[in-house]
Parts: sequence; C-alpha cells; structure tokens
Amino acid sequence: MLRRARRKVGKAGPPTVRPARLGDLPEIARIASTSFRGMRPLPRATKWVRCCWASSPRCRYWIVIVEGQIVGYVLWTEKGGFRDKAVVELEQVAVEPGARRKGIGYRLIRTSLSQLRGTIEKRGARLKLVEVTTGVGQSAVGFYRRTLGARVVARLPEVFDGDERVLHARPGR
Ligand SMILES: CC(C)(COP(=O)(O)OP(=O)(O)OC[C@H]1O[C@@H](n2cnc3c(N)ncnc32)[C@H](O)[C@@H]1OP(=O)(O)O)[C@@H](O)C(=O)NCCC(=O)NCCS
Repeated sequence: MLRRARRKVGKAGPPTVRPARLGDLPEIARIASTSFRGMRPLPRATKWVRCCWASSPRCRYWIVIVEGQIVGYVLWTEKGGFRDKAVVELEQVAVEPGARRKGIGYRLIRTSLSQLRGTIEKRGARLKLVEVTTGVGQSAVGFYRRTLGARVVARLPEVFDGDERVLHARPGR
C-alpha cells in the first residue's frame, strides 16, 4: 500500500511528515478552516488549534509538507489519561483540496501514527486502540479503512451535523 502511495505522489516529490512546530499553527488553522464547516471563520479555527497545541502531549499535531508547503495536518489526542494501554483518537485530519487523492493523507496518517506509537512505547506503554469518528454523510470511512484498517463499531445519533460513525482500529505489531 505504501508503494502505491509513493507512486501517486512521485511527481511532486515525496511528502515530508513531521511533528508540528509553533510556527506551523497558522497554516494548520487555515487548512482546518478550508476543510471543515465547523472550523469557520478562521479566527475561531485559530483559537481552537492554539488550545489543542497548548494541551500537548495529550493533543499532538503532525503536518505534511510537499515542495516546501504545508498541505495537510493530523491531530492525535490521547484519551482517558496517559495509560499503560494507550487509547488514542484521530481527532482531525485534512489535506488541502488541491492535494487530495494523491496518497498524501495515507502517508500522513501512517507516518504520524508510527511516530506517536514510538513515543507511547518510550514511556513503557503500548498502543491499544485507535478511535476515529466521522459523519455518516462523509466518505472518509473508506479512507480510515485503508489507512488504519479501522472498522465501524457504533453509530452515535445527532452529534455535529447529524449521526456519526465510530471506527476502531487495533494496530498490531
Ligand atoms: C480525508 C482526506 C484527509 C484524505 O486525504 P487524501 O490525501 O485525499 O487521501 P489519500 O489520497 O491518501 O487516500 C488514500 C486512500 O483512502 C481512500 N480515500 C481517500 N479519500 C477518500 C474519500 N473521500 N472517500 C473514500 N475513500 C477515500 C481511498 O481508498 C484512497 O485510495 P485511492 O486514492 O486509491 O482511492 C481528505 O480527503 C480531506 O482532507 N478531506 C476533507 C476533510 C475530511 O473529511 N477529513 C476527514 C473527516 S474528519
């Protein structure tokens, strides 16, 4: 699968995925505001992104860069404490509209999750569960199946713009 993603992004050069830095927050907020109705207007997105940043290491952003430009981000949040059996939520992921369907989101999720798992294991814990929710009207379920091997485990009524699907993935070694 990674080979497929590499091939798709080949023309623009390989994307670089790294943990976000303070200076990346305006670009993260801009992409969030472009990608999610609930993240508009931009000042509201900026406030939320800054709040999440301030709660690191509970919440952590990674970004993906193509040809020197930030084209996407993912926000991982650890749930229920810094447990020995860690449960993390993929809280938000977005790729610039013009950069979608090129394997960039796939690379962003796989690389960031691997690095996140590394930090969890460094403290002597293990990653037990990855959770993600998405609106039933959104097509992201296919993306999460592909990138995380996640499956739908529940449906929550009337959350943001309607019902949400909860997906779980149990990343084995
Ligand atoms: C969801 C999102 C992050 C995917 O990023 P991307 O870079 O386009 O994803 P990739 O190209 O790496 O896709 C990898 C695979 O996931 C699946 N996939 C990606 N987007 C999909 C979609 N909209 N519907 C169904 N499957 C999708 C496909 O299987 C794809 O492989 P393919 O290109 O061979 O079909 C991007 O579409 C986005 O930012 N959307 C707006 C924000 C959003 O909806 N975020 C998620 C909901 S919270």
